[in-house]
Amino acid sequence: MRQVKIGVLGCGTAAHFHASACKYLDNIRLVSAFDVNYENAKKLADIYNLTVSRNYQDIMKNENIDAVLITLPHYLHAELTITAAEAGKHILCEKPMAPTLEECDKMIKAARKAGVKLMIAENHRFLPAHQLIKKTLESGLIGTPLLVRGYEGVDETPDLAKPEHWKGSPEKAGGGVLMDAAVHKFAILNWMLGDVHSAYCWLAKQIIKLQNKAEDNAMMLLKFENGCVGSVVVSDTVFSPPNNRLEFYGTEGTILEDHSWKKPVQIFSTSKEAGEHRYQWFSPDVEHEPFPMYYIISFRNEDAHFAECVLDGREPDFSPEEAKKAVEVALLCYLSAKTGKIVTRSDIEKVAISKGTQSIIEGLEKIYI
Ligand SMILES: NC(=O)c1ccc[n+]([C@@H]2O[C@H](COP(=O)([O-])OP(=O)(O)OC[C@H]3O[C@@H](n4cnc5c(N)ncnc54)[C@H](O)[C@@H]3O)[C@@H](O)[C@H]2O)c1
Repeated sequence: MRQVKIGVLGCGTAAHFHASACKYLDNIRLVSAFDVNYENAKKLADIYNLTVSRNYQDIMKNENIDAVLITLPHYLHAELTITAAEAGKHILCEKPMAPTLEECDKMIKAARKAGVKLMIAENHRFLPAHQLIKKTLESGLIGTPLLVRGYEGVDETPDLAKPEHWKGSPEKAGGGVLMDAAVHKFAILNWMLGDVHSAYCWLAKQIIKLQNKAEDNAMMLLKFENGCVGSVVVSDTVFSPPNNRLEFYGTEGTILEDHSWKKPVQIFSTSKEAGEHRYQWFSPDVEHEPFPMYYIISFRNEDAHFAECVLDGREPDFSPEEAKKAVEVALLCYLSAKTGKIVTRSDIEKVAISKGTQSIIEGLEKIYI
């Protein structure tokens, strides 16, 4: 059987999502787990029948392992991706690609040099509901998109409230909820609407008051190169099940999406192309189930795609360059929050040349209203 064998680096929440999703797949198998916290590796290994590696070098040297799954705090993504590439392993690395653009570039370069596949695990790109929205936009059913709204809300307060936990730490996570959650939205909005032109952003610290933690809520206003404008709101302090929403308002119709709906996408179109559905809401069939199943569905599709790319020598549909662009939008928003100004992508380029993009995330814990 053609199968990609995976070594898991980091055995927390995301590793468990991947492991439960991979149970449904024949072309990928998690074989070994490493975590700096042995108990976490052991727990994943016991549930999913993996071996435990005592250090990451054992995974890198293991000739039975084709690829690594990096489910580690954000500051480790670049280092482990580069090490894995140099060891000849293909890489599936969780989002965000890395907290700085320079690290993203190094990851891309290392993978290209080694001739291995690098895919950032952006599960939102592989959610059937999002793929349906992309097709609907391309079909012209809602005309030209003029306005978009995106939302993600989760409860991360248990980890954020721990002073030593990496979540929310600018140093280890590259920021708070914006770097963690809004990159999902940026990755899919770039894919659906094209590049962001400029951004304005507010960061708030409403529940997590720890001095070393960054924002727990964020609101961003975006203008896209194609003229569409919109808002993205993300929260780590939502005390109800996790949820995501997208709304697109176009010259000929509307798309509403909500992950908590059984049929997650509703479309209203005034276009003749809508046929019998013209002038009424309709919800096309799409594979979906409310939380937590939409995680498993999107992770399953994502992991299956990564394995196909490795086995068939294809480049991933979600390229590392696109993942870098999502990080760039996050940095655009952080730069706006820091300066209190509307920021364009050329402003980021100037910072990258003068001080490096690390300078944007430094001191984020002090920037909030
Ligand atoms: N796509 C999604 O929906 C989704 C959901 C959750 C997390 N994530 C992403 O997955 C990644 C991990 O997040 P998480 O929520 O699983 O975090 P987590 O804190 O639950 O797990 C991280 C694990 O890494 C281990 N670790 C920390 N430092 C280490 C080191 N130096 N060497 C080895 N192991 C180390 C920790 O012990 C822990 O077990 C992040 O990039 C996060 O953004 C994505």
